[in-house]
Amino acid sequence: MADDLAALQAETEAALAAAGDLRALDAVRVGVLGKSGALTGLLKGLGAVPAEERKERGAALNRLKGTLEAAIEARRVVLDEAALTARLAAERIDVSLPPRPFAPTGPEAGAIHPIARTIEELTALFGAMGFSVAEGPDIEGDWYNFGALNIPDHHPARQDHDTFYLPAGPDGRRPVLRTHTSPVQIRTMLSQEPPIRVIVPGRTYRADHDATHSPMFHQVEGLLIDRGITLGHLKGCLIDFLRAFFGISTLPVRFRSSYFPFTEPSMEVDIGWNRKTGELGAGGDWLEILGSGMVQPKVLANCGIDPREFQGFAFGMGIERITMLKHGIPDLRPFYESDVRWLRHYGTSPLSPATLHEGV
Ligand code: DAH
Repeated sequence: MADDLAALQAETEAALAAAGDLRALDAVRVGVLGKSGALTGLLKGLGAVPAEERKERGAALNRLKGTLEAAIEARRVVLDEAALTARLAAERIDVSLPPRPFAPTGPEAGAIHPIARTIEELTALFGAMGFSVAEGPDIEGDWYNFGALNIPDHHPARQDHDTFYLPAGPDGRRPVLRTHTSPVQIRTMLSQEPPIRVIVPGRTYRADHDATHSPMFHQVEGLLIDRGITLGHLKGCLIDFLRAFFGISTLPVRFRSSYFPFTEPSMEVDIGWNRKTGELGAGGDWLEILGSGMVQPKVLANCGIDPREFQGFAFGMGIERITMLKHGIPDLRPFYESDVRWLRHYGTSPLSPATLHEGV
């Protein structure tokens, strides 16, 4: 290769290596291959080269052009990549970052209400057992709240002094503020095919008001429907749940036969405690915690599920009640009074949500 061409190649390659971004790269390209670039000039000057050297010189110039074009392209790929990496780094958002330093901490951060906290814990514990969370409306149809659950017209729960009724709808039936979360069993079975595993935390309403009853309170319902489900599954699930929730691995749990229209057999579940000291897990006394049972075949049939193929269990409990027991909260009323001193005392940090690995 002629010396001038070798020099141009070396010079261009050095300039390419030094080009730190796409703009610098383009300047190099224009300087060599542009309209008045160095190589373009040499190609234009080919006419002045003596005829016997022209062919060889022309071929050499074209080879060099190809070489330099390829080198520019190679450098472009490298710089493109670097530009993308830099952009990705600059635009990166770390969603796992801890809260911003200016977010308030201490009392200024506020606190999670104990009811909300218990719902988080229930979701974490039952979530680990494969349950998802279902919801339903607070204003509920008579059929969902009572009829489909096998609660007959004359049942005491249907009396005006127990239940908040709204004016009658077109069907002549009066909607109710749901008296329990059980109607969401019906809604879930009507909208999902078995197998089903849901818990239903939510607000419920009864015409009751004293130191231990509030007209609005919270329940959590549980429903599991599958093939071959037995009382053994119900017992295992609830014993595991109660021991994990109260954090007492030896918590005594007793199943006592009972009656609910929507389960057969039905059982009330008690935990061991000391009536005098209020201590859970010791003392030889029993405290009723929740209602449960195997879903009544009529309830399954009301939802179009064949009871010969599918069985299941259900349970329901009061969220305030288990929260009061777990944290030693003596009175129900402050739950709804928004007294910041109480909320700070019994609330939990919004920065440490309930997770199983941290313990609930
Ligand atoms: N719905 C009942 C109540 O409010 C609680 C209950 C008992 C729910 C037994 C259930 C169950 O799912 O199986 O008193």
